[in-house]
Amino acid sequence: MALKPAMVRRIFTGVRYAILQSSACHGSTAAKTFTAISDTTDKSSENFKNLFSTSKGKEQEYQKLLEVVRQSDPKGVQRHLKQGKLLVRDRMSKLLDNVDDFLELSAVAGVGMPYGDIPSAGVVTGFGQVHGKDVLVIANDGSFKGGTVFPITLKKQLRAQQIAQELSIPCVYIVDSGGAFLPLQSEIFINGGITFYNEAVMSSMGIPQIAVVCGMCTAGGAYIPTMADEAIMVHKTGSIFLAGPPLVKAALGEIISAEELGGATMHSTVSGCVDHFARDEEESYRICRDVILSLNLPDVVYPQTFCPPLYDAEDLHGLVSACDPNAHQVISRIVDGSGFQEFKALYGKALVTGFASISGYPVGIVANAAAEWNADASTKASHFVQLCTQRRLPLIFLVNQHERDRHPDPLVNGEEMKCHARFMASVACSDVLKVSIVTGAFHGLDSYAMGSKALGSNLVFHWPSASFSMHSPDHLQSVSSMTEEEVGKKSSSLYAAANVWTDGMILPQQTRQVLSKVLQLFKYSKEMKLLAHESTTAKQTNFRM
Ligand code: COA
Repeated sequence: MALKPAMVRRIFTGVRYAILQSSACHGSTAAKTFTAISDTTDKSSENFKNLFSTSKGKEQEYQKLLEVVRQSDPKGVQRHLKQGKLLVRDRMSKLLDNVDDFLELSAVAGVGMPYGDIPSAGVVTGFGQVHGKDVLVIANDGSFKGGTVFPITLKKQLRAQQIAQELSIPCVYIVDSGGAFLPLQSEIFINGGITFYNEAVMSSMGIPQIAVVCGMCTAGGAYIPTMADEAIMVHKTGSIFLAGPPLVKAALGEIISAEELGGATMHSTVSGCVDHFARDEEESYRICRDVILSLNLPDVVYPQTFCPPLYDAEDLHGLVSACDPNAHQVISRIVDGSGFQEFKALYGKALVTGFASISGYPVGIVANAAAEWNADASTKASHFVQLCTQRRLPLIFLVNQHERDRHPDPLVNGEEMKCHARFMASVACSDVLKVSIVTGAFHGLDSYAMGSKALGSNLVFHWPSASFSMHSPDHLQSVSSMTEEEVGKKSSSLYAAANVWTDGMILPQQTRQVLSKVLQLFKYSKEMKLLAHESTTAKQTNFRM
Protein backbone atom coordinates (compact mmCIF):
# COMPACT_ATOMS: atom_id res chain seq x y z
CA MET A 1 0.00 0.00 0.00
CA ALA A 2 1.37 3.43 -0.96
CA LEU A 3 1.59 5.82 1.96
CA LYS A 4 -0.08 9.21 1.46
CA PRO A 5 1.88 12.28 2.73
CA ALA A 6 -0.64 12.85 5.56
CA MET A 7 -0.23 9.23 6.72
CA VAL A 8 3.56 9.55 6.67
CA ARG A 9 3.24 12.69 8.74
CA ARG A 10 0.96 10.93 11.24
CA ILE A 11 3.35 8.01 11.60
CA PHE A 12 6.31 10.36 11.95
CA THR A 13 4.42 12.36 14.55
CA GLY A 14 3.53 9.19 16.44
CA VAL A 15 7.16 8.06 16.53
CA ARG A 16 8.41 11.47 17.60
CA TYR A 17 5.65 11.63 20.20
CA ALA A 18 6.62 8.24 21.63
CA ILE A 19 10.25 9.38 21.86
CA LEU A 20 9.21 12.60 23.57
CA GLN A 21 7.01 10.70 26.00
CA SER A 22 9.90 8.58 27.12
CA SER A 23 12.52 11.35 27.18
CA ALA A 24 11.15 14.86 27.60
CA CYS A 25 7.96 14.38 29.61
CA HIS A 26 7.86 16.06 32.97
CA GLY A 27 7.47 13.50 35.78
CA SER A 28 6.59 9.90 35.05
CA THR A 29 6.93 8.49 31.55
CA ALA A 30 3.35 7.30 31.94
CA ALA A 31 1.97 10.81 31.23
CA LYS A 32 -1.39 10.52 29.50
CA THR A 33 -2.19 12.76 26.56
CA PHE A 34 -4.70 12.72 23.74
CA THR A 35 -3.75 11.78 20.19
CA ALA A 36 -1.37 14.39 18.81
CA ILE A 37 -2.34 16.91 16.14
CA SER A 38 -0.13 16.49 13.04
CA ASP A 39 2.22 19.30 12.11
CA THR A 40 1.03 20.63 8.75
CA THR A 41 2.91 23.93 8.92
CA ASP A 42 5.03 24.84 5.93
CA LYS A 43 7.71 27.02 7.48
CA SER A 44 9.35 27.65 4.13
CA SER A 45 6.24 29.34 2.70
CA GLU A 46 6.31 33.09 2.01
CA ASN A 47 3.16 33.50 4.06
CA PHE A 48 4.72 31.90 7.15
CA LYS A 49 7.93 33.90 6.80
CA ASN A 50 6.09 37.22 6.38
CA LEU A 51 3.84 36.61 9.36
CA PHE A 52 6.81 35.50 11.43
CA SER A 53 8.88 38.60 10.74
CA THR A 54 5.94 41.00 11.30
CA SER A 55 5.13 39.33 14.62
CA LYS A 56 8.79 39.35 15.71
CA GLY A 57 8.94 43.09 14.88
CA LYS A 58 5.97 43.66 17.19
CA GLU A 59 7.64 41.60 19.90
CA GLN A 60 10.72 43.85 19.75
CA GLU A 61 8.58 47.00 19.96
CA TYR A 62 6.86 45.56 23.01
CA GLN A 63 10.13 44.59 24.73
CA LYS A 64 11.53 48.10 24.17
CA LEU A 65 8.39 49.66 25.58
CA LEU A 66 8.56 47.42 28.67
CA GLU A 67 12.13 48.58 29.32
CA VAL A 68 11.09 52.24 29.12
CA VAL A 69 8.08 51.70 31.36
CA ARG A 70 10.17 49.91 34.00
CA GLN A 71 12.62 52.80 34.23
CA SER A 72 9.73 54.94 35.53
CA ASP A 73 10.70 58.61 36.04
CA PRO A 74 14.51 58.99 36.57
CA LYS A 75 14.09 62.17 38.66
CA GLY A 76 11.45 60.51 40.85
CA VAL A 77 13.57 57.37 41.18
CA GLN A 78 16.49 59.45 42.54
CA ARG A 79 14.21 61.21 45.04
CA HIS A 80 12.76 57.84 46.09
CA LEU A 81 16.16 56.22 46.63
CA LYS A 82 17.44 59.24 48.59
CA GLN A 83 14.60 58.68 51.03
CA GLY A 84 16.07 55.23 51.72
CA LYS A 85 13.18 53.38 50.05
CA LEU A 86 13.37 50.32 47.81
CA LEU A 87 12.05 50.51 44.25
CA VAL A 88 8.78 48.75 43.60
CA ARG A 89 10.25 45.70 41.82
CA ASP A 90 12.96 45.30 44.47
CA ARG A 91 10.22 45.29 47.07
CA MET A 92 8.54 42.41 45.29
CA SER A 93 11.74 40.43 45.11
CA LYS A 94 11.99 40.69 48.93
CA LEU A 95 8.41 39.57 49.35
CA LEU A 96 8.06 36.75 46.84
CA ASP A 97 9.65 33.28 46.78
CA ASN A 98 10.86 33.87 43.23
CA VAL A 99 10.23 37.17 41.49
CA ASP A 100 10.98 35.58 38.10
CA ASP A 101 7.74 33.58 38.45
CA PHE A 102 5.71 36.77 38.95
CA LEU A 103 2.81 36.93 36.49
CA GLU A 104 2.52 40.66 35.95
CA LEU A 105 -0.81 42.07 34.81
CA SER A 106 -1.17 45.00 32.41
CA ALA A 107 2.55 45.86 32.45
CA VAL A 108 2.25 48.65 29.87
CA ALA A 109 -1.01 50.13 31.17
CA GLY A 110 -0.87 53.91 31.36
CA VAL A 111 1.13 54.56 28.17
CA GLY A 112 -0.24 57.45 26.09
CA MET A 113 -3.01 58.60 28.42
CA PRO A 114 -4.62 62.00 27.61
CA TYR A 115 -2.87 63.29 30.76
CA GLY A 116 0.56 61.87 29.77
CA ASP A 117 2.48 58.61 30.08
CA ILE A 118 1.99 56.97 33.48
CA PRO A 119 4.62 54.20 33.83
CA SER A 120 2.96 50.90 34.88
CA ALA A 121 -0.14 53.06 35.48
CA GLY A 122 1.53 53.95 38.80
CA VAL A 123 0.88 50.54 40.31
CA VAL A 124 2.37 47.09 39.70
CA THR A 125 -0.12 44.23 39.97
CA GLY A 126 0.23 40.49 39.49
CA PHE A 127 0.43 37.03 40.97
CA GLY A 128 3.39 35.56 42.81
CA GLN A 129 4.01 33.02 45.54
CA VAL A 130 4.97 33.40 49.20
CA HIS A 131 5.91 30.17 50.98
CA GLY A 132 4.50 28.36 47.95
CA LYS A 133 1.04 30.03 48.27
CA ASP A 134 -0.36 32.26 45.53
CA VAL A 135 -1.01 35.89 46.36
CA LEU A 136 -2.05 38.91 44.35
CA VAL A 137 0.33 41.83 44.84
CA ILE A 138 -0.84 45.43 44.36
CA ALA A 139 2.21 47.68 44.76
CA ASN A 140 2.26 51.46 44.27
CA ASP A 141 5.21 52.87 42.38
CA GLY A 142 6.18 55.57 44.89
CA SER A 143 8.86 56.89 42.51
CA PHE A 144 6.34 58.33 40.07
CA LYS A 145 4.49 61.44 41.33
CA GLY A 146 4.63 60.17 44.91
CA GLY A 147 2.71 56.98 44.00
CA THR A 148 -0.44 59.03 43.45
CA VAL A 149 -3.53 57.53 41.86
CA PHE A 150 -4.49 58.50 38.30
CA PRO A 151 -7.73 57.31 36.65
CA ILE A 152 -5.78 54.51 34.92
CA THR A 153 -4.19 53.51 38.27
CA LEU A 154 -7.63 53.09 39.71
CA LYS A 155 -8.84 51.08 36.71
CA LYS A 156 -5.86 48.71 36.96
CA GLN A 157 -6.17 48.33 40.72
CA LEU A 158 -9.92 47.65 40.59
CA ARG A 159 -9.44 45.03 37.89
CA ALA A 160 -6.74 43.29 39.97
CA GLN A 161 -9.05 43.25 42.98
CA GLN A 162 -11.89 41.87 40.83
CA ILE A 163 -9.70 38.98 39.68
CA ALA A 164 -8.55 38.28 43.24
CA GLN A 165 -12.13 38.28 44.46
CA GLU A 166 -13.37 35.98 41.69
CA LEU A 167 -10.50 33.55 42.34
CA SER A 168 -10.41 33.97 46.15
CA ILE A 169 -6.70 34.80 46.10
CA PRO A 170 -5.21 36.63 49.13
CA CYS A 171 -4.13 40.23 48.44
CA VAL A 172 -0.93 41.94 49.57
CA TYR A 173 -0.90 45.73 49.20
CA ILE A 174 2.54 47.40 49.16
CA VAL A 175 1.44 50.91 49.96
CA ASP A 176 3.43 54.02 49.05
CA SER A 177 0.89 56.53 47.77
CA GLY A 178 -0.01 60.17 48.21
CA GLY A 179 -3.65 59.32 47.39
CA ALA A 180 -5.46 60.91 44.46
CA PHE A 181 -3.48 62.82 41.84
CA LEU A 182 -5.28 66.03 42.71
CA PRO A 183 -5.51 67.73 39.27
CA LEU A 184 -7.61 64.71 38.18
CA GLN A 185 -9.50 64.23 41.45
CA SER A 186 -12.89 64.60 39.79
CA GLU A 187 -12.22 61.47 37.71
CA ILE A 188 -11.08 59.47 40.74
CA PHE A 189 -13.13 60.55 43.72
CA ILE A 190 -16.36 58.59 43.29
CA ASN A 191 -15.03 55.26 41.99
CA GLY A 192 -11.95 55.49 44.24
CA GLY A 193 -14.10 54.29 47.13
CA ILE A 194 -14.65 50.94 45.39
CA THR A 195 -11.08 49.98 46.35
CA PHE A 196 -12.09 50.10 50.02
CA TYR A 197 -15.41 48.39 49.34
CA ASN A 198 -13.56 45.52 47.63
CA GLU A 199 -11.15 45.21 50.52
CA ALA A 200 -13.94 44.97 53.10
CA VAL A 201 -15.99 42.54 51.03
CA MET A 202 -13.03 40.27 50.26
CA SER A 203 -12.10 40.24 53.93
CA SER A 204 -15.68 39.28 54.82
CA MET A 205 -15.53 36.48 52.25
CA GLY A 206 -12.48 35.04 54.01
CA ILE A 207 -9.98 36.29 51.39
CA PRO A 208 -7.06 37.71 53.44
CA GLN A 209 -6.08 41.36 52.90
CA ILE A 210 -2.56 42.23 54.06
CA ALA A 211 -0.77 45.60 53.76
CA VAL A 212 2.80 46.79 54.09
CA VAL A 213 3.19 50.56 54.48
CA CYS A 214 6.57 51.62 53.18
CA GLY A 215 6.09 55.26 52.15
CA MET A 216 4.27 58.41 53.18
CA CYS A 217 0.62 57.58 52.54
CA THR A 218 -2.16 60.12 52.44
CA ALA A 219 -5.94 59.77 52.22
CA GLY A 220 -6.69 56.74 50.00
CA GLY A 221 -3.16 55.52 50.64
CA ALA A 222 -3.98 55.57 54.37
CA TYR A 223 -7.28 53.67 54.26
CA ILE A 224 -5.85 50.66 52.38
CA PRO A 225 -3.69 49.54 55.35
CA THR A 226 -6.24 50.62 57.92
CA MET A 227 -8.91 48.43 56.33
CA ALA A 228 -6.55 45.47 55.84
CA ASP A 229 -6.86 42.38 58.03
CA GLU A 230 -3.25 42.77 59.10
CA ALA A 231 -0.86 45.66 58.43
CA ILE A 232 2.87 46.20 58.82
CA MET A 233 4.54 49.62 58.84
CA VAL A 234 8.15 50.56 58.23
CA HIS A 235 9.81 52.81 60.84
CA LYS A 236 10.66 56.32 59.54
CA THR A 237 9.79 55.79 55.84
CA GLY A 238 6.23 54.57 56.39
CA SER A 239 3.43 56.84 57.58
CA ILE A 240 -0.32 57.20 57.15
CA PHE A 241 -2.62 60.15 57.65
CA LEU A 242 -5.68 61.73 56.10
CA ALA A 243 -3.86 65.07 55.86
CA GLY A 244 -0.07 65.26 55.90
CA PRO A 245 2.25 67.75 57.62
CA PRO A 246 1.84 70.46 54.90
CA LEU A 247 -1.94 70.47 55.30
CA VAL A 248 -1.72 70.46 59.12
CA LYS A 249 0.53 73.50 58.90
CA ALA A 250 -1.81 75.26 56.47
CA ALA A 251 -4.95 74.49 58.48
CA LEU A 252 -3.69 74.74 62.07
CA GLY A 253 -0.36 76.50 61.77
CA GLU A 254 1.16 73.52 63.62
CA ILE A 255 4.52 72.15 62.51
CA ILE A 256 4.73 68.40 62.95
CA SER A 257 6.86 65.68 61.35
CA ALA A 258 5.34 62.82 59.33
CA GLU A 259 6.78 60.37 61.85
CA GLU A 260 5.08 62.08 64.82
CA LEU A 261 1.83 62.61 62.93
CA GLY A 262 1.40 59.12 61.58
CA GLY A 263 4.57 57.03 61.71
CA ALA A 264 5.06 53.39 62.62
CA THR A 265 5.69 54.08 66.32
CA MET A 266 2.51 56.14 66.69
CA HIS A 267 0.28 53.73 64.75
CA SER A 268 1.61 50.53 66.30
CA THR A 269 1.63 51.82 69.91
CA VAL A 270 -1.12 54.46 70.12
CA SER A 271 -3.76 54.27 67.36
CA GLY A 272 -3.58 50.55 66.57
CA CYS A 273 -4.03 51.33 62.86
CA VAL A 274 -1.20 48.89 62.11
CA ASP A 275 -0.33 45.61 63.78
CA HIS A 276 3.39 45.17 63.19
CA PHE A 277 6.31 47.58 63.56
CA ALA A 278 9.21 46.93 61.15
CA ARG A 279 12.58 48.55 61.74
CA ASP A 280 13.29 48.77 58.02
CA GLU A 281 11.87 47.63 54.69
CA GLU A 282 13.77 44.34 54.67
CA GLU A 283 12.17 43.47 57.99
CA SER A 284 8.71 44.51 56.79
CA TYR A 285 8.73 41.89 53.99
CA ARG A 286 10.06 39.25 56.37
CA ILE A 287 7.15 40.00 58.71
CA CYS A 288 4.75 39.98 55.77
CA ARG A 289 6.00 36.54 54.71
CA ASP A 290 5.43 35.32 58.29
CA VAL A 291 1.94 36.80 58.29
CA ILE A 292 1.17 34.87 55.08
CA LEU A 293 2.53 31.72 56.71
CA SER A 294 0.05 32.27 59.56
CA LEU A 295 -2.97 32.50 57.23
CA ASN A 296 -3.56 28.75 57.23
CA LEU A 297 -3.79 28.70 53.44
CA PRO A 298 -4.52 25.37 51.77
CA ASP A 299 -1.80 22.99 50.65
CA VAL A 300 -2.52 22.18 47.03
CA VAL A 301 -1.16 19.21 45.12
CA TYR A 302 -0.27 20.30 41.59
CA PRO A 303 0.06 17.94 38.61
CA GLN A 304 3.53 16.45 38.34
CA THR A 305 3.20 14.41 35.16
CA PHE A 306 2.87 15.94 31.74
CA CYS A 307 4.55 16.19 28.34
CA PRO A 308 5.56 19.37 26.49
CA PRO A 309 4.06 20.10 23.07
CA LEU A 310 5.73 18.31 20.16
CA TYR A 311 6.27 21.45 18.10
CA ASP A 312 8.21 24.66 18.66
CA ALA A 313 6.28 27.50 20.35
CA GLU A 314 8.25 30.05 18.30
CA ASP A 315 6.26 28.85 15.26
CA LEU A 316 3.25 30.65 16.73
CA HIS A 317 4.68 33.89 15.32
CA GLY A 318 4.17 32.61 11.79
CA LEU A 319 0.83 30.87 12.23
CA VAL A 320 -1.81 33.48 12.89
CA SER A 321 -2.94 36.01 10.35
CA ALA A 322 -5.86 38.40 10.36
CA CYS A 323 -7.84 36.09 8.10
CA ASP A 324 -6.54 32.65 9.12
CA PRO A 325 -6.57 31.64 12.78
CA ASN A 326 -4.89 28.26 12.00
CA ALA A 327 -6.59 26.87 15.10
CA HIS A 328 -5.27 23.28 15.13
CA GLN A 329 -1.66 24.32 14.58
CA VAL A 330 -1.87 26.96 17.32
CA ILE A 331 -3.42 24.48 19.76
CA SER A 332 -0.72 21.91 18.95
CA ARG A 333 1.97 24.34 20.14
CA ILE A 334 0.30 25.03 23.47
CA VAL A 335 -1.11 21.76 24.85
CA ASP A 336 0.60 18.76 26.46
CA GLY A 337 2.07 16.39 23.88
CA SER A 338 0.20 18.43 21.21
CA GLY A 339 -2.69 16.09 22.09
CA PHE A 340 -6.26 17.18 21.34
CA GLN A 341 -9.57 15.35 21.58
CA GLU A 342 -11.70 17.32 19.14
CA PHE A 343 -15.42 17.59 19.75
CA LYS A 344 -17.78 17.75 16.73
CA ALA A 345 -14.88 18.10 14.27
CA LEU A 346 -17.21 17.90 11.27
CA TYR A 347 -19.89 20.31 12.45
CA GLY A 348 -19.83 24.11 12.79
CA LYS A 349 -16.25 24.28 11.57
CA ALA A 350 -15.89 28.04 12.09
CA LEU A 351 -15.03 27.11 15.66
CA VAL A 352 -12.80 24.32 16.89
CA THR A 353 -13.80 22.81 20.23
CA GLY A 354 -12.10 20.04 22.17
CA PHE A 355 -10.36 18.67 25.23
CA ALA A 356 -6.66 18.80 26.07
CA SER A 357 -4.35 19.34 29.02
CA ILE A 358 -1.79 22.03 29.75
CA SER A 359 1.00 21.21 32.21
CA GLY A 360 -1.19 18.39 33.46
CA TYR A 361 -4.34 20.50 34.01
CA PRO A 362 -7.31 19.25 31.98
CA VAL A 363 -9.07 22.00 29.98
CA GLY A 364 -11.70 22.62 27.31
CA ILE A 365 -10.62 24.78 24.37
CA VAL A 366 -12.77 26.89 22.04
CA ALA A 367 -10.86 28.45 19.15
CA ASN A 368 -11.85 30.50 16.12
CA ALA A 369 -11.02 28.57 12.98
CA ALA A 370 -12.35 30.71 10.14
CA ALA A 371 -13.09 34.31 9.34
CA GLU A 372 -16.73 33.40 8.56
CA TRP A 373 -19.09 32.82 11.38
CA ASN A 374 -22.30 30.80 11.35
CA ALA A 375 -25.13 29.56 13.50
CA ASP A 376 -23.85 25.96 13.61
CA ALA A 377 -20.57 27.07 15.13
CA SER A 378 -22.41 28.96 17.90
CA THR A 379 -24.65 25.98 18.60
CA LYS A 380 -21.67 23.65 18.80
CA ALA A 381 -19.82 26.03 21.12
CA SER A 382 -22.84 26.36 23.44
CA HIS A 383 -23.03 22.57 23.69
CA PHE A 384 -19.30 22.36 24.37
CA VAL A 385 -19.40 25.06 27.06
CA GLN A 386 -22.21 23.12 28.73
CA LEU A 387 -20.09 19.93 28.69
CA CYS A 388 -17.09 21.72 30.22
CA THR A 389 -19.31 23.24 32.89
CA GLN A 390 -20.77 19.82 33.71
CA ARG A 391 -17.25 18.28 33.84
CA ARG A 392 -15.82 21.22 35.86
CA LEU A 393 -13.16 21.91 33.23
CA PRO A 394 -11.62 25.39 32.90
CA LEU A 395 -12.40 26.93 29.52
CA ILE A 396 -9.72 28.42 27.30
CA PHE A 397 -10.74 30.65 24.42
CA LEU A 398 -8.28 31.29 21.58
CA VAL A 399 -9.73 34.34 19.93
CA ASN A 400 -9.37 35.55 16.36
CA GLN A 401 -12.90 36.75 15.73
CA HIS A 402 -13.96 38.91 12.81
CA GLU A 403 -17.06 40.96 12.42
CA ARG A 404 -19.72 38.79 10.84
CA ASP A 405 -21.40 39.95 7.63
CA ARG A 406 -25.12 40.15 8.22
CA HIS A 407 -26.91 37.53 6.15
CA PRO A 408 -29.18 39.14 3.50
CA ASP A 409 -32.04 36.80 4.42
CA PRO A 410 -33.63 38.18 7.62
CA LEU A 411 -34.75 34.67 8.66
CA VAL A 412 -31.20 33.29 8.45
CA ASN A 413 -29.86 36.42 10.12
CA GLY A 414 -32.41 36.04 12.95
CA GLU A 415 -31.48 32.37 13.40
CA GLU A 416 -27.78 33.26 13.56
CA MET A 417 -28.46 35.94 16.16
CA LYS A 418 -30.49 33.51 18.26
CA CYS A 419 -27.72 30.87 18.17
CA HIS A 420 -25.07 33.41 19.00
CA ALA A 421 -27.14 34.87 21.84
CA ARG A 422 -27.36 31.33 23.25
CA PHE A 423 -23.58 30.98 23.00
CA MET A 424 -23.08 34.27 24.86
CA ALA A 425 -25.56 33.19 27.54
CA SER A 426 -23.86 29.79 27.95
CA VAL A 427 -20.48 31.47 28.45
CA ALA A 428 -21.85 34.14 30.78
CA CYS A 429 -23.66 31.59 32.95
CA SER A 430 -20.95 28.94 33.02
CA ASP A 431 -19.39 28.99 36.47
CA VAL A 432 -16.11 27.29 35.52
CA LEU A 433 -12.97 29.39 35.32
CA LYS A 434 -12.41 31.03 31.96
CA VAL A 435 -9.35 32.50 30.33
CA SER A 436 -9.08 34.10 26.90
CA ILE A 437 -6.07 34.67 24.69
CA VAL A 438 -6.68 37.09 21.83
CA THR A 439 -4.28 35.94 19.13
CA GLY A 440 -5.55 38.11 16.26
CA ALA A 441 -8.74 40.02 15.57
CA PHE A 442 -11.25 40.98 18.24
CA HIS A 443 -13.81 42.72 16.08
CA GLY A 444 -17.57 43.03 16.29
CA LEU A 445 -20.00 42.15 19.04
CA ASP A 446 -19.67 38.42 18.33
CA SER A 447 -16.20 38.59 19.93
CA TYR A 448 -17.70 39.07 23.38
CA ALA A 449 -18.56 35.40 23.86
CA MET A 450 -15.02 34.29 23.06
CA GLY A 451 -12.81 36.50 25.04
CA SER A 452 -14.07 39.32 27.09
CA LYS A 453 -14.08 40.58 30.59
CA ALA A 454 -17.64 41.67 29.77
CA LEU A 455 -18.91 38.09 29.61
CA GLY A 456 -16.94 36.93 32.61
CA SER A 457 -13.51 35.70 31.49
CA ASN A 458 -11.49 35.65 34.70
CA LEU A 459 -8.32 36.60 32.83
CA VAL A 460 -7.81 37.91 29.30
CA PHE A 461 -4.43 38.32 27.58
CA HIS A 462 -3.52 39.28 24.04
CA TRP A 463 -0.63 38.85 21.60
CA PRO A 464 1.16 41.94 20.23
CA SER A 465 -0.41 41.35 16.80
CA ALA A 466 -4.01 41.50 18.13
CA SER A 467 -6.41 44.31 17.21
CA PHE A 468 -9.65 45.41 18.86
CA SER A 469 -12.63 47.39 17.61
CA MET A 470 -16.42 47.44 17.70
CA HIS A 471 -16.52 47.01 13.90
CA SER A 472 -13.73 45.82 11.62
CA PRO A 473 -11.34 48.76 11.03
CA ASP A 474 -12.51 49.31 7.40
CA HIS A 475 -16.13 49.27 8.40
CA LEU A 476 -15.47 51.55 11.38
CA GLN A 477 -13.82 54.14 9.19
CA SER A 478 -16.66 54.05 6.69
CA VAL A 479 -19.41 54.50 9.30
CA SER A 480 -17.71 57.07 11.54
CA SER A 481 -15.81 60.32 11.20
CA MET A 482 -12.62 58.67 12.45
CA THR A 483 -9.51 59.00 10.28
CA GLU A 484 -7.52 55.95 9.21
CA GLU A 485 -4.76 56.93 11.63
CA GLU A 486 -7.20 57.29 14.52
CA VAL A 487 -8.84 53.94 13.77
CA GLY A 488 -5.39 52.31 13.55
CA LYS A 489 -4.29 53.78 16.87
CA LYS A 490 -7.47 53.09 18.78
CA SER A 491 -7.79 49.50 17.59
CA SER A 492 -4.15 48.62 18.20
CA SER A 493 -2.77 46.06 20.57
CA LEU A 494 -0.88 48.73 22.48
CA TYR A 495 -3.97 50.89 22.93
CA ALA A 496 -5.84 47.88 24.36
CA ALA A 497 -2.96 47.09 26.72
CA ALA A 498 -2.49 50.71 27.79
CA ASN A 499 -6.18 51.10 28.60
CA VAL A 500 -6.53 47.78 30.50
CA TRP A 501 -9.01 46.35 27.98
CA THR A 502 -7.31 43.04 28.70
CA ASP A 503 -5.05 41.93 31.55
CA GLY A 504 -1.99 42.47 29.42
CA MET A 505 0.05 41.65 26.38
CA ILE A 506 1.92 38.34 26.27
CA LEU A 507 4.25 37.00 23.61
CA PRO A 508 2.97 34.07 21.52
CA GLN A 509 5.75 31.76 22.72
CA GLN A 510 4.85 32.54 26.36
CA THR A 511 1.25 31.42 25.93
CA ARG A 512 1.66 27.91 27.39
CA GLN A 513 3.71 29.23 30.31
CA VAL A 514 1.12 31.92 31.11
CA LEU A 515 -1.78 29.47 30.79
CA SER A 516 0.04 27.00 33.07
CA LYS A 517 0.41 29.69 35.72
CA VAL A 518 -3.23 30.68 35.35
CA LEU A 519 -4.37 27.05 35.63
CA GLN A 520 -2.24 26.67 38.75
CA LEU A 521 -4.06 29.72 40.15
CA PHE A 522 -7.40 28.18 39.17
CA LYS A 523 -6.56 24.99 41.05
CA TYR A 524 -5.52 26.99 44.11
CA SER A 525 -8.65 29.08 43.74
CA LYS A 526 -10.85 25.97 44.11
CA GLU A 527 -9.19 25.12 47.42
CA MET A 528 -9.33 28.72 48.61
CA LYS A 529 -13.04 28.88 47.87
CA LEU A 530 -13.67 25.80 50.00
CA LEU A 531 -11.63 27.30 52.83
CA ALA A 532 -13.31 30.70 52.56
CA HIS A 533 -16.68 28.96 52.65
CA GLU A 534 -15.77 27.24 55.93
CA SER A 535 -14.42 30.47 57.46
CA THR A 536 -16.11 31.23 60.76
CA THR A 537 -15.58 34.96 60.25
CA ALA A 538 -17.49 34.90 56.98
CA LYS A 539 -19.76 37.90 56.54
CA GLN A 540 -17.59 39.99 58.86
CA THR A 541 -14.67 42.16 57.97
CA ASN A 542 -11.99 43.00 60.56
CA PHE A 543 -12.85 45.28 63.45
CA ARG A 544 -9.48 46.89 63.98
CA MET A 545 -11.08 50.21 64.85
N1 COA B 1 -1.47 65.27 43.50
C1 COA B 1 -0.68 65.66 42.47
N2 COA B 1 0.66 65.60 42.50
C2 COA B 1 1.22 65.16 43.63
C3 COA B 1 0.48 64.75 44.73
C4 COA B 1 -0.92 64.81 44.64
N3 COA B 1 -1.72 64.37 45.61
N4 COA B 1 1.32 64.36 45.70
C5 COA B 1 2.55 64.48 45.19
N5 COA B 1 2.50 64.99 43.95
C6 COA B 1 3.62 65.21 43.02
C7 COA B 1 4.54 66.36 43.43
O1 COA B 1 4.03 67.54 42.89
C8 COA B 1 5.86 65.94 42.79
O2 COA B 1 5.77 66.18 41.41
P1 COA B 1 7.10 66.33 40.48
O3 COA B 1 7.68 64.96 40.32
O4 COA B 1 6.57 66.84 39.18
O5 COA B 1 8.02 67.26 41.20
C9 COA B 1 5.84 64.46 42.98
O6 COA B 1 4.47 64.08 43.13
C10 COA B 1 6.56 63.98 44.24
O7 COA B 1 6.13 64.73 45.33
P2 COA B 1 7.17 65.26 46.46
O8 COA B 1 6.39 65.96 47.49
O9 COA B 1 8.29 66.00 45.82
O10 COA B 1 7.74 63.85 46.95
P3 COA B 1 7.83 63.24 48.40
O11 COA B 1 8.31 61.87 48.21
O12 COA B 1 8.62 64.12 49.28
O13 COA B 1 6.33 63.23 48.97
C11 COA B 1 4.00 62.73 49.08
C12 COA B 1 5.35 62.46 48.37
C13 COA B 1 2.92 62.05 48.26
C14 COA B 1 4.02 62.14 50.45
C15 COA B 1 3.78 64.25 49.22
O14 COA B 1 3.98 64.85 47.96
C16 COA B 1 2.41 64.63 49.69
O15 COA B 1 2.15 64.62 50.89
N6 COA B 1 1.53 65.00 48.74
C17 COA B 1 0.19 65.45 49.05
C18 COA B 1 -0.71 64.28 49.24
C19 COA B 1 -2.15 64.69 49.43
O16 COA B 1 -2.45 65.70 50.00
N7 COA B 1 -3.02 63.87 48.91
C20 COA B 1 -4.41 64.12 49.01
C21 COA B 1 -5.11 63.09 48.18
S1 COA B 1 -6.85 63.23 48.38
